[in-house]
Amino acid sequence: MEHAAPVIAIDGPTASGKGTVAQRVASALGWHYLDSGALYRLAALRALETGISVSDARALAEAARTLDPVFSDGRITLDGREVTDDIRREDVGLLASRIAVHPELRAALLELQRSFRRPPGLVADGRDMGTVVFPDARLKVFLTATAEARAERRHKQLSDKGFSSSIAALLQDLKVRDERDSSRSTAPLKPAEDARRLDSSDLTIDQVVAQILDWHGKG
Ligand code: DC
Repeated sequence: MEHAAPVIAIDGPTASGKGTVAQRVASALGWHYLDSGALYRLAALRALETGISVSDARALAEAARTLDPVFSDGRITLDGREVTDDIRREDVGLLASRIAVHPELRAALLELQRSFRRPPGLVADGRDMGTVVFPDARLKVFLTATAEARAERRHKQLSDKGFSSSIAALLQDLKVRDERDSSRSTAPLKPAEDARRLDSSDLTIDQVVAQILDWHGKG
């Protein structure tokens, strides 16, 4: 039974480290991994490339409904083309945050997100995983970090990929996105009531992963 597969939901603001943490938890358990932000980014990339307006919710939802990405070995392919690095661009991330306010688009991505739930289990990364997409997740973690710590991480992430960026500009972007993501009326960025909070600002990735595995083991 597909729905018997357990889910660990890891939510939190952008650049909180949840992506890396969720992937590590998934590989430690031998579970599947869902990067829900990547789906919003894929929808944004498609909107950008096909010229769909940010305000055209119906066209955005249609574009999202027909997304058929292939995730394999950390690479993402869309329509036969590799887009792994393209979707990490700041302009794509900002557009993803803007189109994510539309309930029609969020609804269009629900089924795709839930299709990742397969045995032996799923670690789902994204801001509404524990509140909307998998409300029955057995463990919900809300991972935070200060905006400064997150700007530094994003800066490092980008420079590792060969993109240059300014920490001050990234900090500003993060604040704008946090504000928009937490104040929007559809699926705002907020912890599920039954989520455990974890501030990662002063923790290593290993420490964060160990804490989550410990909670999972005791769950
Ligand atoms: O986590 P990220 O930076 O890859 O996400 C990109 C944008 O997608 C984020 O600013 C808001 C949106 N998003 C969302 O609304 N819900 C999710 N579950 C994941 C991402």
